[in-house]
Amino acid sequence: MSLAIYRKYRPKKLADVIGQENVTTIIKNSAAQDKLAHAYIFYGSRGTGKTTVARILSKIANCQTRKKDSEFAKKGEPCNKCQACLAIDAGQALDVVEIDAASNRGIDEIRDLKENIKTLPSLFNYKVFIIDEVHMLTTQAFNALLKTLEEPPTHVIFILATTEYEKVPPTIISRTQRFHFRKLTLSEISSKLETILKNEKTSYSKEAIEMIAYLADGSLRDAESLLDQIISLKGENLTVANVEEILGKVDFSKTVGMCDLLIKNDLKQSLEFLYDIANKGYNLFQFNKDITEYLRRVLSLSLNPDLEEMFKRELAEAEINKIQQHAKIANRDKLIALIKSLISAYSQMKYNPFPIAPFEIAVIENLKEEKTKFNL
Ligand SMILES: Nc1ncnc2c1ncn2[C@@H]1O[C@H](COP(=O)(O)OP(=O)(O)OP(=O)(O)O)[C@@H](O)[C@H]1O
Ligand SMILES: [Mg+2]
Ligand SMILES: [Zn+2]
Repeated sequence: MSLAIYRKYRPKKLADVIGQENVTTIIKNSAAQDKLAHAYIFYGSRGTGKTTVARILSKIANCQTRKKDSEFAKKGEPCNKCQACLAIDAGQALDVVEIDAASNRGIDEIRDLKENIKTLPSLFNYKVFIIDEVHMLTTQAFNALLKTLEEPPTHVIFILATTEYEKVPPTIISRTQRFHFRKLTLSEISSKLETILKNEKTSYSKEAIEMIAYLADGSLRDAESLLDQIISLKGENLTVANVEEILGKVDFSKTVGMCDLLIKNDLKQSLEFLYDIANKGYNLFQFNKDITEYLRRVLSLSLNPDLEEMFKRELAEAEINKIQQHAKIANRDKLIALIKSLISAYSQMKYNPFPIAPFEIAVIENLKEEKTKFNL
């Protein structure tokens, strides 16, 4: 696997984009009717397809097959074979300019851009400017951009992309067509990973895939990069043990195991469990986070059973079942106290030469009353 997975498996047409139907359907329809807008803003979580769709849109705007063949154009997709499509895929198209606003924040870049849009495209129909991380532009640069967005030349398309929509001035936003990219669900991520692994002829366990999908927290790019990292270090077989070893992640069954003891108020065993996790070299910060996350879900589910639907986007069936069982037996006030202690323990762990100590104290503080009065 020489080419990084996330590049090798970047979708080349709208139909291959996973999960962003709201976005892809509208773009496909407007492409079919030849009614592309002149300015778009793509916003939402990292690694969910913004740059990918921006490149597909650049191809749609410039695809030579679409221009020649009106029947094909109605599909609202690029052909991926003509010179324009190939050049854009290879990142070699002069008329498609990607600007990283995080490193080019200033007025000069926007001035260059304004000079550039005055001239017609050299080979293509449209000049497309993809401005990534657009929220990073300075106020001055935004103002300069605004003027251009007010009256964009007909041969120009702007695609602004950002993970921080709130930081983009409303004056800019109101001049664009807006598209929200949502986090991908656990099952969407898992099934893409499975497709990749089958294609790469790498064997795997389902649990290992789910663990990666869970850790990626809605970002397909993160999932694909993690997969890449593990496969390149561990070779042809993807197992839970490999994932754990590389990521220092404690598997879900251990999270459930620990939470089970906490919820059942078993101080003695909880401490043993924690000690064992630390001894095995797992990452205690991650373990604290996993437990907090789990208990948080138990708490919310006990208050609102409808949240199960939301959890299904992020968790596997077996995990939700466990959470439900715990939601039935957990004491709410205790849960709240425990979550609070774990959160404060987390920040104390960072500055502590023995990160396990604040963690243990959080457990002891919350479990002491009932159990220890018999034991001590
Ligand atoms: N919706 C998706 N469908 C299919 N693949 C995706 C999707 N989102 C991300 N990917 C995969 O992740 C990689 C990176 O995605 P992309 O660069 O489009 O993310 P992004 O939203 O622009 O992220 P960032 O906000 O970090 O710039 C793609 O090459 C692709 O392999
Ligand atoms: Mg991007
Ligand atoms: Zn084409």
